Amino acid sequence: MWFFRSPSIVYGEDSISFFNELPQRRLVIVTDGNIIRAGLLQKIKNELPSDSEILIIDDVPIEPTISYVLSLKGRIIDFNPDLIIGLGGGSCMDCAKVVFVTYERPDIDLHDITPLVNLDLRKKARLILIPTTSGTGSECSWAAVISDDDHGRKNEFASPEIIADFAIIDPAMVSSLPEPVRKSTAVDALAHAIEARSSTWKNSYSDIFSDKAVELISGNLFDAISHPENMEAVSNVHMGASMAGLAFSNSQITLAHSLGHSLGAHFKIPHGISVGIFLPHVIRFNYAESKGEYVALNKKFPPNLRKRYLYLTVENFLKVLSMPVKISDLNIKKDEYEKKMDSMVSVALESTGTVLNPRDAGRAELEMFLREIE
Ligand SMILES: [Fe+2]
Repeated sequence: MWFFRSPSIVYGEDSISFFNELPQRRLVIVTDGNIIRAGLLQKIKNELPSDSEILIIDDVPIEPTISYVLSLKGRIIDFNPDLIIGLGGGSCMDCAKVVFVTYERPDIDLHDITPLVNLDLRKKARLILIPTTSGTGSECSWAAVISDDDHGRKNEFASPEIIADFAIIDPAMVSSLPEPVRKSTAVDALAHAIEARSSTWKNSYSDIFSDKAVELISGNLFDAISHPENMEAVSNVHMGASMAGLAFSNSQITLAHSLGHSLGAHFKIPHGISVGIFLPHVIRFNYAESKGEYVALNKKFPPNLRKRYLYLTVENFLKVLSMPVKISDLNIKKDEYEKKMDSMVSVALESTGTVLNPRDAGRAELEMFLREIE
Protein backbone atom coordinates (compact mmCIF):
# COMPACT_ATOMS: atom_id res chain seq x y z
CA MET A 1 0.00 0.00 0.00
CA TRP A 2 1.41 3.37 -1.05
CA PHE A 3 0.27 6.98 -0.70
CA PHE A 4 0.71 10.06 -2.84
CA ARG A 5 0.86 12.99 -0.42
CA SER A 6 0.33 16.64 -1.24
CA PRO A 7 -0.92 19.86 0.30
CA SER A 8 -3.82 21.66 -1.37
CA ILE A 9 -2.07 23.93 -3.83
CA VAL A 10 -3.14 27.50 -4.54
CA TYR A 11 -1.24 28.75 -7.60
CA GLY A 12 -0.93 31.49 -10.17
CA GLU A 13 -0.96 35.29 -10.06
CA ASP A 14 -2.79 36.80 -7.08
CA SER A 15 -2.98 33.49 -5.28
CA ILE A 16 -2.00 35.23 -2.03
CA SER A 17 -5.44 36.90 -2.17
CA PHE A 18 -6.61 33.46 -0.97
CA PHE A 19 -6.11 34.85 2.57
CA ASN A 20 -9.33 36.83 2.09
CA GLU A 21 -11.26 33.57 1.94
CA LEU A 22 -9.90 32.07 5.14
CA PRO A 23 -11.83 32.20 8.41
CA GLN A 24 -8.66 32.34 10.56
CA ARG A 25 -7.80 35.67 12.22
CA ARG A 26 -4.93 34.94 14.65
CA LEU A 27 -1.84 34.38 12.56
CA VAL A 28 1.77 33.55 13.32
CA ILE A 29 4.07 34.32 10.38
CA VAL A 30 7.48 32.59 10.52
CA THR A 31 9.97 34.44 8.32
CA ASP A 32 13.34 36.24 8.26
CA GLY A 33 14.80 39.73 7.85
CA ASN A 34 15.61 39.37 4.14
CA ILE A 35 12.01 38.50 3.32
CA ILE A 36 10.79 41.53 5.25
CA ARG A 37 13.33 43.86 3.59
CA ALA A 38 12.28 42.51 0.16
CA GLY A 39 8.73 43.69 0.93
CA LEU A 40 7.24 40.19 0.77
CA LEU A 41 5.77 40.20 4.28
CA GLN A 42 4.01 43.46 3.44
CA LYS A 43 2.48 41.85 0.35
CA ILE A 44 0.96 39.18 2.60
CA LYS A 45 -0.19 41.75 5.17
CA ASN A 46 -1.95 43.70 2.40
CA GLU A 47 -4.12 40.66 1.72
CA LEU A 48 -5.16 39.95 5.31
CA PRO A 49 -8.59 40.91 6.61
CA SER A 50 -8.37 44.09 8.69
CA ASP A 51 -9.35 42.38 11.94
CA SER A 52 -6.42 39.93 11.78
CA GLU A 53 -4.05 39.73 14.76
CA ILE A 54 -0.49 38.86 13.74
CA LEU A 55 2.60 37.66 15.59
CA ILE A 56 5.66 37.89 13.38
CA ILE A 57 8.70 35.68 13.99
CA ASP A 58 11.24 37.64 11.97
CA ASP A 59 14.62 36.08 12.73
CA VAL A 60 14.71 32.50 11.40
CA PRO A 61 18.43 31.72 10.82
CA ILE A 62 19.79 30.09 7.65
CA GLU A 63 20.14 26.80 9.53
CA PRO A 64 17.53 26.81 12.31
CA THR A 65 18.47 24.74 15.37
CA ILE A 66 16.39 22.75 17.82
CA SER A 67 17.00 25.32 20.57
CA TYR A 68 15.90 28.16 18.26
CA VAL A 69 12.64 26.39 17.46
CA LEU A 70 12.01 25.59 21.12
CA SER A 71 12.75 29.20 22.12
CA LEU A 72 9.63 30.28 20.16
CA LYS A 73 7.27 27.84 21.84
CA GLY A 74 6.16 29.93 24.83
CA ARG A 75 5.43 33.06 22.76
CA ILE A 76 3.36 31.11 20.27
CA ILE A 77 1.36 29.24 22.88
CA ASP A 78 0.64 32.56 24.66
CA PHE A 79 -0.49 34.13 21.38
CA ASN A 80 -2.86 31.20 20.70
CA PRO A 81 -2.97 31.35 16.86
CA ASP A 82 -5.41 29.55 14.59
CA LEU A 83 -3.07 29.73 11.59
CA ILE A 84 0.70 29.29 11.25
CA ILE A 85 2.36 30.56 8.07
CA GLY A 86 5.88 29.78 6.88
CA LEU A 87 7.04 32.53 4.49
CA GLY A 88 10.47 32.21 2.90
CA GLY A 89 12.93 29.65 1.59
CA GLY A 90 13.41 26.14 2.93
CA SER A 91 14.65 27.28 6.37
CA CYS A 92 11.57 29.41 7.15
CA MET A 93 9.15 26.81 5.84
CA ASP A 94 10.86 23.92 7.66
CA CYS A 95 10.95 26.01 10.83
CA ALA A 96 7.22 26.76 10.51
CA LYS A 97 6.44 23.04 10.19
CA VAL A 98 8.21 22.25 13.45
CA VAL A 99 6.83 25.35 15.20
CA PHE A 100 3.40 24.06 14.22
CA VAL A 101 4.14 20.75 15.99
CA THR A 102 5.50 22.40 19.14
CA TYR A 103 2.38 24.56 19.35
CA GLU A 104 -0.06 21.72 18.73
CA ARG A 105 1.82 19.21 20.86
CA PRO A 106 4.05 21.02 23.41
CA ASP A 107 4.40 17.71 25.25
CA ILE A 108 6.29 15.79 22.57
CA ASP A 109 10.01 15.50 21.82
CA LEU A 110 10.94 16.81 18.36
CA HIS A 111 12.60 13.48 17.59
CA ASP A 112 9.11 11.95 17.73
CA ILE A 113 8.31 13.73 14.47
CA THR A 114 8.54 10.54 12.44
CA PRO A 115 6.10 8.78 10.13
CA LEU A 116 5.70 6.08 12.82
CA VAL A 117 4.21 8.36 15.49
CA ASN A 118 0.62 9.60 15.42
CA LEU A 119 1.10 13.29 16.29
CA ASP A 120 -2.61 14.10 16.30
CA LEU A 121 -2.17 17.69 15.07
CA ARG A 122 -4.69 20.30 13.87
CA LYS A 123 -6.58 20.63 17.11
CA LYS A 124 -5.68 24.34 17.34
CA ALA A 125 -4.43 25.64 13.99
CA ARG A 126 -3.74 25.07 10.30
CA LEU A 127 -0.43 25.38 8.41
CA ILE A 128 0.19 27.39 5.23
CA LEU A 129 3.56 27.53 3.43
CA ILE A 130 4.52 30.24 0.95
CA PRO A 131 7.84 29.76 -0.89
CA THR A 132 9.87 32.84 -1.83
CA THR A 133 12.34 30.91 -3.99
CA SER A 134 11.58 28.48 -6.82
CA GLY A 135 13.67 25.60 -5.55
CA THR A 136 13.47 23.70 -2.29
CA GLY A 137 10.01 22.19 -2.69
CA SER A 138 9.63 22.27 1.10
CA GLU A 139 6.12 23.71 0.69
CA CYS A 140 5.09 20.34 -0.77
CA SER A 141 7.10 17.98 1.41
CA TRP A 142 6.56 16.16 4.69
CA ALA A 143 10.11 16.80 5.93
CA ALA A 144 11.75 19.55 7.98
CA VAL A 145 15.53 19.91 8.39
CA ILE A 146 16.51 21.29 11.80
CA SER A 147 20.13 21.29 13.04
CA ASP A 148 21.42 19.98 16.36
CA ASP A 149 22.76 22.71 18.64
CA ASP A 150 26.11 21.10 19.39
CA HIS A 151 27.55 19.48 16.30
CA GLY A 152 25.56 21.11 13.51
CA ARG A 153 24.28 17.65 12.52
CA LYS A 154 21.09 18.01 10.52
CA ASN A 155 17.97 16.17 11.68
CA GLU A 156 15.40 15.42 9.04
CA PHE A 157 12.08 15.32 10.86
CA ALA A 158 9.33 13.79 8.75
CA SER A 159 5.65 13.12 9.18
CA PRO A 160 2.65 13.22 6.83
CA GLU A 161 1.03 15.45 9.46
CA ILE A 162 3.49 18.31 8.83
CA ILE A 163 2.49 18.57 5.18
CA ALA A 164 0.95 22.02 4.84
CA ASP A 165 -2.82 22.40 4.59
CA PHE A 166 -2.18 24.85 1.75
CA ALA A 167 0.91 25.70 -0.31
CA ILE A 168 0.60 29.08 -2.04
CA ILE A 169 2.60 29.24 -5.29
CA ASP A 170 2.34 32.94 -6.17
CA PRO A 171 4.85 34.36 -8.71
CA ALA A 172 4.73 37.75 -6.94
CA MET A 173 6.71 36.10 -4.13
CA VAL A 174 9.65 35.38 -6.51
CA SER A 175 9.41 38.20 -9.05
CA SER A 176 12.36 40.12 -7.61
CA LEU A 177 14.72 37.23 -6.79
CA PRO A 178 18.39 38.09 -7.41
CA GLU A 179 19.64 36.35 -10.56
CA PRO A 180 22.21 34.05 -8.85
CA VAL A 181 19.52 32.83 -6.43
CA ARG A 182 17.03 32.31 -9.27
CA LYS A 183 19.62 30.19 -11.10
CA SER A 184 20.89 28.07 -8.21
CA THR A 185 17.43 27.36 -6.77
CA ALA A 186 16.10 26.39 -10.22
CA VAL A 187 19.01 23.97 -10.68
CA ASP A 188 18.12 22.44 -7.29
CA ALA A 189 14.52 22.02 -8.47
CA LEU A 190 15.65 20.49 -11.76
CA ALA A 191 17.78 18.02 -9.80
CA HIS A 192 14.76 17.12 -7.62
CA ALA A 193 12.73 16.31 -10.73
CA ILE A 194 15.47 14.29 -12.46
CA GLU A 195 16.52 12.38 -9.34
CA ALA A 196 12.92 11.59 -8.38
CA ARG A 197 12.48 10.06 -11.86
CA SER A 198 15.35 7.60 -11.32
CA SER A 199 15.21 6.84 -7.57
CA THR A 200 14.42 3.24 -6.69
CA TRP A 201 11.26 4.58 -5.01
CA LYS A 202 10.04 6.24 -8.21
CA ASN A 203 6.41 5.60 -9.03
CA SER A 204 3.80 6.50 -11.63
CA TYR A 205 2.56 9.52 -9.66
CA SER A 206 5.98 11.04 -9.00
CA ASP A 207 6.98 10.42 -12.66
CA ILE A 208 4.23 12.70 -13.92
CA PHE A 209 5.34 15.58 -11.72
CA SER A 210 9.00 15.05 -12.67
CA ASP A 211 8.23 15.26 -16.36
CA LYS A 212 6.11 18.40 -16.11
CA ALA A 213 8.58 20.05 -13.72
CA VAL A 214 11.46 19.56 -16.17
CA GLU A 215 9.33 20.92 -19.02
CA LEU A 216 8.27 24.03 -17.06
CA ILE A 217 11.68 24.82 -15.57
CA SER A 218 13.82 24.20 -18.67
CA GLY A 219 11.31 25.88 -20.96
CA ASN A 220 10.88 29.06 -18.91
CA LEU A 221 13.96 29.67 -16.77
CA PHE A 222 15.90 31.70 -19.33
CA ASP A 223 12.91 33.98 -19.99
CA ALA A 224 12.36 34.34 -16.23
CA ILE A 225 16.02 35.40 -15.82
CA SER A 226 16.22 37.81 -18.75
CA HIS A 227 12.68 39.19 -18.33
CA PRO A 228 11.68 38.90 -14.65
CA GLU A 229 8.67 41.07 -15.45
CA ASN A 230 7.36 38.17 -17.58
CA MET A 231 5.06 36.77 -14.91
CA GLU A 232 4.02 33.83 -17.03
CA ALA A 233 7.62 32.61 -17.26
CA VAL A 234 8.29 33.32 -13.56
CA SER A 235 5.07 31.56 -12.59
CA ASN A 236 5.88 28.52 -14.76
CA VAL A 237 9.30 28.10 -13.11
CA HIS A 238 7.71 28.56 -9.67
CA MET A 239 5.06 25.91 -10.39
CA GLY A 240 7.71 23.63 -11.87
CA ALA A 241 9.73 23.86 -8.66
CA SER A 242 6.71 22.93 -6.55
CA MET A 243 5.97 19.99 -8.89
CA ALA A 244 9.58 18.86 -8.53
CA GLY A 245 9.00 19.09 -4.75
CA LEU A 246 5.94 16.87 -5.06
CA ALA A 247 7.92 14.43 -7.21
CA PHE A 248 10.85 13.96 -4.86
CA SER A 249 8.86 14.04 -1.65
CA ASN A 250 6.78 11.15 -3.04
CA SER A 251 9.83 9.37 -4.50
CA GLN A 252 13.32 10.34 -3.33
CA ILE A 253 16.51 12.01 -4.50
CA THR A 254 19.69 10.11 -5.48
CA LEU A 255 23.46 10.54 -5.63
CA ALA A 256 23.68 14.17 -6.83
CA HIS A 257 21.98 15.20 -3.59
CA SER A 258 24.12 12.86 -1.45
CA LEU A 259 27.29 14.33 -2.94
CA GLY A 260 25.92 17.87 -3.03
CA HIS A 261 24.94 17.79 0.64
CA SER A 262 28.39 16.57 1.55
CA LEU A 263 30.30 19.08 -0.60
CA GLY A 264 28.02 21.90 0.56
CA ALA A 265 28.47 21.03 4.23
CA HIS A 266 32.27 20.82 3.98
CA PHE A 267 32.78 24.03 1.99
CA LYS A 268 29.66 26.13 2.70
CA ILE A 269 28.39 26.16 -0.87
CA PRO A 270 24.77 27.02 -1.76
CA HIS A 271 22.70 23.85 -2.08
CA GLY A 272 21.66 24.23 -5.74
CA ILE A 273 25.24 24.84 -6.86
CA SER A 274 26.70 21.91 -4.94
CA VAL A 275 24.00 19.51 -6.19
CA GLY A 276 24.04 20.81 -9.79
CA ILE A 277 27.80 20.31 -10.16
CA PHE A 278 27.34 16.53 -9.76
CA LEU A 279 24.09 16.15 -11.68
CA PRO A 280 25.40 15.37 -15.21
CA HIS A 281 28.03 12.99 -13.76
CA VAL A 282 25.38 11.08 -11.78
CA ILE A 283 23.05 10.83 -14.79
CA ARG A 284 25.88 9.40 -16.89
CA PHE A 285 26.75 6.90 -14.12
CA ASN A 286 23.11 5.75 -13.84
CA TYR A 287 22.43 5.72 -17.56
CA ALA A 288 22.06 1.97 -18.12
CA GLU A 289 19.77 1.54 -15.08
CA SER A 290 17.52 4.52 -15.86
CA LYS A 291 17.73 4.77 -19.64
CA GLY A 292 13.95 4.79 -20.21
CA GLU A 293 13.40 7.51 -17.61
CA TYR A 294 16.24 9.64 -18.91
CA VAL A 295 15.10 9.38 -22.54
CA ALA A 296 11.62 10.53 -21.45
CA LEU A 297 13.06 13.45 -19.46
CA ASN A 298 15.40 14.50 -22.26
CA LYS A 299 12.39 15.05 -24.53
CA LYS A 300 11.00 17.57 -22.02
CA PHE A 301 13.85 20.05 -22.65
CA PRO A 302 13.32 22.63 -25.40
CA PRO A 303 14.92 21.62 -28.73
CA ASN A 304 17.46 24.46 -28.62
CA LEU A 305 18.92 23.07 -25.38
CA ARG A 306 18.49 19.37 -26.00
CA LYS A 307 21.45 17.12 -26.82
CA ARG A 308 21.52 13.43 -27.70
CA TYR A 309 21.67 12.16 -24.10
CA LEU A 310 20.21 13.61 -20.92
CA TYR A 311 23.59 14.07 -19.24
CA LEU A 312 24.78 16.11 -22.23
CA THR A 313 21.59 18.16 -22.17
CA VAL A 314 21.97 18.89 -18.45
CA GLU A 315 25.66 19.71 -18.95
CA ASN A 316 24.67 22.15 -21.70
CA PHE A 317 21.88 23.63 -19.57
CA LEU A 318 24.33 24.31 -16.71
CA LYS A 319 26.86 25.77 -19.15
CA VAL A 320 24.34 28.20 -20.64
CA LEU A 321 23.46 29.22 -17.07
CA SER A 322 27.20 29.74 -16.31
CA MET A 323 26.98 27.41 -13.33
CA PRO A 324 30.23 26.12 -11.74
CA VAL A 325 31.50 22.80 -13.10
CA LYS A 326 34.83 22.38 -11.24
CA ILE A 327 36.03 23.04 -7.69
CA SER A 328 38.24 25.83 -9.05
CA ASP A 329 35.01 27.65 -10.06
CA LEU A 330 34.02 27.48 -6.37
CA ASN A 331 37.39 28.85 -5.16
CA ILE A 332 38.15 25.58 -3.37
CA LYS A 333 41.88 24.89 -3.07
CA LYS A 334 43.01 21.42 -4.19
CA ASP A 335 44.93 20.68 -0.98
CA GLU A 336 41.91 21.62 1.18
CA TYR A 337 39.70 19.45 -1.03
CA GLU A 338 42.12 16.53 -0.72
CA LYS A 339 42.24 16.85 3.08
CA LYS A 340 38.46 16.57 3.29
CA MET A 341 38.08 13.79 0.71
CA ASP A 342 37.58 10.91 3.18
CA SER A 343 35.14 12.88 5.27
CA MET A 344 33.16 13.97 2.19
CA VAL A 345 32.91 10.36 1.03
CA SER A 346 31.75 9.21 4.50
CA VAL A 347 29.00 11.85 4.72
CA ALA A 348 27.77 11.08 1.18
CA LEU A 349 27.78 7.35 1.93
CA GLU A 350 25.37 7.81 4.85
CA SER A 351 22.86 9.78 2.80
CA THR A 352 19.45 8.37 1.84
CA GLY A 353 20.11 9.35 -1.77
CA THR A 354 23.00 6.88 -1.93
CA VAL A 355 20.83 4.02 -0.71
CA LEU A 356 18.06 4.81 -3.21
CA ASN A 357 20.27 5.44 -6.23
CA PRO A 358 19.37 3.06 -9.09
CA ARG A 359 22.99 1.88 -9.36
CA ASP A 360 24.99 0.79 -6.32
CA ALA A 361 27.69 3.21 -5.24
CA GLY A 362 30.24 2.61 -2.48
CA ARG A 363 33.25 4.57 -1.25
CA ALA A 364 35.20 4.09 -4.51
CA GLU A 365 32.38 5.37 -6.71
CA LEU A 366 31.65 8.36 -4.45
CA GLU A 367 35.33 9.31 -4.48
CA MET A 368 35.29 8.97 -8.27
CA PHE A 369 32.52 11.60 -8.50
CA LEU A 370 34.38 13.93 -6.16
CA ARG A 371 37.49 13.57 -8.36
CA GLU A 372 35.53 14.20 -11.56
CA ILE A 373 34.92 17.80 -10.51
CA GLU A 374 38.48 18.32 -9.22
FE1 LIG B 1 17.62 19.89 -3.12
